[in-house]
Amino acid sequence: MTAPWTLRYDRYEPERERLVEALCTLGNGRFATRGSAPECPAGATHYPGTYLAGCYDRRSSAVAGERIENEDLVNLPDWTRLRYRCLPDGGPPGDWLTPDSEELRHYDVLLDLRAGVLTRSLYFEDGDGRGLRVGHRRIVHMGEPWLAAQRTVFRAYGWTGAVEAESVLDGAVTNAGVARYRHLEGRHLLDHRTGFEPGGVAWLTCRTTDPGRGIALAVRTVTRPDRPVRETATRTGTVQTVLLPVGHRRAASLVKTLALRTSRDRPAVEPRAAACADAARAPSFPRLVSAHRAAWQGLWQRGELDVPGEAGRILRLHLFHLLQTLSPHTADLDVGVPARGLHGEAYRGHVFWDELFVQPYLDLHFPEVARSLLMYRHRRLPAAREAARQAGATGAMYPWQSASSGREETQELHLNPRSGRWLPDHTRLQRHVGSAVAYNVWRYARTTGDLGFLHAAGAEMLLEVARYWSGAAALDPALGRYRIRGVIGPDEYHDAYPGAPAPGIDDNAYTNATAAWVLARGLDLLDRLPAARRSELRERLALDDAELDRWQDVSRRLYLPFHRGVVSQFEGYGQLAELDWDAYRARYGDIRRLDRILEAEDDTVNRYQASKQADTLMLGHLFRPEELSGLFARLGYRMDDEVWRATVDYYLARTSHGSTLSSLVHGWVLARLQGADAWRYCEEALLGDVADVQGGTTGEGIHLGAMAGTIDLVERGITGLEAGPEGLRVAPVALRELPRFAFTLCAGGHHGVRVRVLPGRLAVRVPAGPAAPLTVVLPGERRFTVPPGEERWFRL
Ligand code: BGC
Repeated sequence: MTAPWTLRYDRYEPERERLVEALCTLGNGRFATRGSAPECPAGATHYPGTYLAGCYDRRSSAVAGERIENEDLVNLPDWTRLRYRCLPDGGPPGDWLTPDSEELRHYDVLLDLRAGVLTRSLYFEDGDGRGLRVGHRRIVHMGEPWLAAQRTVFRAYGWTGAVEAESVLDGAVTNAGVARYRHLEGRHLLDHRTGFEPGGVAWLTCRTTDPGRGIALAVRTVTRPDRPVRETATRTGTVQTVLLPVGHRRAASLVKTLALRTSRDRPAVEPRAAACADAARAPSFPRLVSAHRAAWQGLWQRGELDVPGEAGRILRLHLFHLLQTLSPHTADLDVGVPARGLHGEAYRGHVFWDELFVQPYLDLHFPEVARSLLMYRHRRLPAAREAARQAGATGAMYPWQSASSGREETQELHLNPRSGRWLPDHTRLQRHVGSAVAYNVWRYARTTGDLGFLHAAGAEMLLEVARYWSGAAALDPALGRYRIRGVIGPDEYHDAYPGAPAPGIDDNAYTNATAAWVLARGLDLLDRLPAARRSELRERLALDDAELDRWQDVSRRLYLPFHRGVVSQFEGYGQLAELDWDAYRARYGDIRRLDRILEAEDDTVNRYQASKQADTLMLGHLFRPEELSGLFARLGYRMDDEVWRATVDYYLARTSHGSTLSSLVHGWVLARLQGADAWRYCEEALLGDVADVQGGTTGEGIHLGAMAGTIDLVERGITGLEAGPEGLRVAPVALRELPRFAFTLCAGGHHGVRVRVLPGRLAVRVPAGPAAPLTVVLPGERRFTVPPGEERWFRL
């Protein structure tokens, strides 16, 4: 069995190299570097990439006869490059060696999750039996978030001589990691300057084009034995060349220590001077690694998750990547949740609704990070208000894809790689993203008890989203209900009615139900605010009684469509044609991207009852059964076990799972229902990235929502756990494949509450400390208290 704290690839397979690079990315919440082989520049097989959280750049490109803009998470200069070749005594120099060299005999990549260290071992042997073992170790420092380091050790076998090594800082990089975007302008770095400082420090500065941000990378190259270094600077990079003597029992090593600084750092620095000073001052490699390890140890303690077996190993990998993208360092930054991590260029580093799957975990374990992500949204509230105003709406309309400024960044056109056609992209009509922001505000405040946030920034966002929904809902006198028309639901397949001249569908049940929920929460919040705060906020937002009366009315009379005894995904969904799923599966095998298949056949998925991912079923992910029936009852609809089960079965049969979020949500919903297939979906969610289930997409960046979502699935989905003002509510369901596990979380003012789940039993241990005993609420409203310093067992 594979070791529980590692990810390992013991062979070099060029076709999976991009996947390895993405899954072996190292990061610290501020920046991340893909786990690429240092020997290789970007090309068809390899794609080195370094990304700084929130570092976007806007360019315009001509595509399909139109000018379009794209704001990308910028690929920064490659600091990892290292070229080497053997110079045997008395013989001609060998070729530059890479994993693609014919001489490669052995290759092994090992990611140590506990320590956050990536090791790559290569062994080359030429026709004359001369061997060279090369071992690289890399870290991106979790304690000092501007540092990273890479040590390479060379050992010669059967010969003596030298290894010629070139330590490269390469600024001639572009954003070219995703084939589908190759028509878009990918040059984001300008004004390169390079140079050297004493002490083996090479530096490179450049800036993004728009908005201009100065970037400096300094790399200190130190060798053992200490040898003279030849320094060469080009316009876009530096090379430090050194001859390292090797021979019997004589290893040589080269350490590159990177410091990455920008003009946006806080406190403000002059990037070049700061990077050079950081690189020069940085401790030796072993000391860097031990401080880095210690920082990781602290994180693993806060996020302890003890799940046995292979599922546990994958969950650890997921948590590792979550914490590398969003670490406590993130709390100091103005950044959101990049859907594909800092691991690649898919979706251009944009922020979607995926925080809905990430925040609940952070609320329970890293509340300061959760809060900072909400503040990213709050700083962009003015942009969301402006977007609403421009659309003739009220309140705040958050963008479907957000990046630096908070304006809408969704592309206007997207490429269907199957047909080669550029198509209009209407996904920006996913207005439900606003409800995700409001939901996260509410859940964060409930879980952490941070009323300071809720009553200030949180209230502003929640109320402005509520206001948006109230304005977006129009009364249909014939129906006697409010309708929200012209939107797109989480299932992105349906972006219009077949043959309709304008995009959008009407009354997406998920959109309408969550809108009603936001309105109801907005009203609750106003009721509960301290009187002075309420008046101040109402005055500032100009919320008069008439408007609040309308919120009441809309929150009780929004329309939810039904057909054949199930909730309709949207009005008219039940009248669409049925797809012959078996025929399509037989013809194409993988039909996850059914939309692309149908479009390439000159058909459209809009004609069919076929969904990309969980849409209506998302309601079962967000709300407990009693909350969902309460929400439906408020709207005058019936939602009970029978309706819910019928709805789940209905969409299960009509979903292609074209997003990694889909199996996650289905796994969650089925686990709660104790459905037969629950584990199949949970397993698919677990495998999403490690097995690259979506056919090659992981190499372009991990799926952060699904990764975080799987941890949350174990911690909240299976346990039915909710931390809130009343304590810790738990209602575990039995999942045969995951009978026992444990984790720690923050609840009731305690850090490090440990929950252990066993078949039919559950234990809660509260750490010793001054906070009050923790109330545990079990099914049937059975309440118990667990005093600090004690553990209590409960029968389920
Ligand atoms: C999904 C969206 C998701 C986005 C980014 C899309 O494929 O359909 O729900 O937000 O990916 O992860």
